Amino acid sequence: MDSIWALFIPFVIYTWTRSRKRYPPGPKRLPFIGNLLDIPTRHAYEKFAHYSKDLNSDIIYLDAVGVPFIVLNSLEACNDLLEKRSNVYSSRYHQTMAYELIDGKRIFPMLPYGDEWRESKKIMMKHITAPANQEPIFSTITQFIRKSLLPNLLMAPADFLVHIRNGVGGSIISLTYGLPIKRVDDPWIEVAEQSMHCLTSAAVPGKYAVDVVPALKHLPEWLPGAGFLREAKEWKRTFARLFEEPFKAVKKGMVDGTVQPSFLSRSLEEISDMPDQERLERVIENPLLGGTDTSVTAVTNFVAMLLLFPDIQSKAQAEIDIVIGRHRLPELEDKTKLPYLSAVLKELLRWKPIVPSGLPHMTSEDDIYKDYYIPKGAIVMGNNWAIMHDEKIFPNPSKFDPTRFLTASGQLRHDNKIPDPEVVATFGFGRRICPGINIGLASFWLSAACILACFNVTPELDDEGKPITPKIEYVGKEIVSHPEPFRCQITPRDPEATALVQAEYDESSEYI
Ligand code: HEM
Repeated sequence: MDSIWALFIPFVIYTWTRSRKRYPPGPKRLPFIGNLLDIPTRHAYEKFAHYSKDLNSDIIYLDAVGVPFIVLNSLEACNDLLEKRSNVYSSRYHQTMAYELIDGKRIFPMLPYGDEWRESKKIMMKHITAPANQEPIFSTITQFIRKSLLPNLLMAPADFLVHIRNGVGGSIISLTYGLPIKRVDDPWIEVAEQSMHCLTSAAVPGKYAVDVVPALKHLPEWLPGAGFLREAKEWKRTFARLFEEPFKAVKKGMVDGTVQPSFLSRSLEEISDMPDQERLERVIENPLLGGTDTSVTAVTNFVAMLLLFPDIQSKAQAEIDIVIGRHRLPELEDKTKLPYLSAVLKELLRWKPIVPSGLPHMTSEDDIYKDYYIPKGAIVMGNNWAIMHDEKIFPNPSKFDPTRFLTASGQLRHDNKIPDPEVVATFGFGRRICPGINIGLASFWLSAACILACFNVTPELDDEGKPITPKIEYVGKEIVSHPEPFRCQITPRDPEATALVQAEYDESSEYI
């Protein structure tokens, strides 16, 4: 009997205390499951933005089976909390499946706020921002676009999705490990993709009961319903390949002198005489890979946009032709001279945010905001999509209109009246902001400029030779929002463009 009271009394106190706190408004909660049914598995960010409209509040509260879940649907709320109070809003939610069972804690984007995360981010920022590393980083990106992406598009245009992965994703992997990357079918790219797929599939919020009831991880694997444990075991093995295989290859290559300097080799040299080397080795492995999927998606979105808006394609090509001419490929230094292209890319980041829900943060202390109580341990989502589709800031937000970033004379606006998607929300917030912004933007801009300079992207033709209306779909289920595979024609603009691409192509080299 005593034990029943022992359980009952804390429950009553908890429920009473909770009912007296003023949480932000949210949809009505059901007993036990809370708002689980109000969190859709597809395009959740759009639904969350609608809740804000219905409830007339830019901050909403949902109860995900007992876990407090706060969505910030305005730039103001994101700035107030994720930026200005980032000492409280910078942790990560501990998802048992992804963090523990798959071993996601091996990469620092998943680490909670604390010393281990701080150390890893410091090492990474140092590598990315060191003046001596700028030239090699941008040169690697340029080489991959010129020697992999463009010639592959010329030779096998139908496989453009694979070429973007090789040319854009390959440059990030090369920057991470310094290992030679094959122009086509590179095994390291495959290892990275498979491993990241395991992690992102395991990290989908609400997918696994073990994230809500962590004790389920102790079930015997053979028990009916414990299939997730068998899945986790398999995924953990695949995820581990991302660490063990390239890491061994880099260490060996450093001894043989066969690897290029990379993030990993520089960090290993730096930490070799530190006392806690093992822990540091664990957290420096792979941080750049957070950038592979995102950077590849940015360029895939760009090709989809060219297909949907031929007038914008022609206008951006005309600008490149006038400013750069047809005798050379665009270079990163040309960026400031091409305002229309910059406006197109900003608009694309706004119109189709790459990480529409942002990466959830978690509070490490209780907080009060606008008289609302925000508990410690709450998942806090800065809704990038809601910010970028806020009609008060971006009138007619579903229209793709690059001119919203331009003055009447066609120059980029610098009046601070609308937020710049290259600076705001796209790369997250506060202390957790993406460390790879410069790399991501450079590879996005240069890939876009080079594709425009050399190719026309047009719809496929039907049997009668008529263009097939393009249909680009986003499933909106994963953290990074990719378009579903689509088809199009990618053809060189003219013989000059073909010659420019071929001039960079070294037939005799299998590797970049
Ligand atoms: C267009 C390309 C990219 C986009 C849209 C993007 C977006 C993001 C977003 C939204 C976050 C979450 C920030 C937050 O929690 O508030 C993030 C984190 C991160 N990104 Fe990127 N990213 C891109 C490219 C890159 C690149 C190229 C790298 C590596 C060189 C990179 C490495 C990381 C890492 C390590 C984190 C975790 C930071 C932390 O937890 O402290 N990203 N990124």
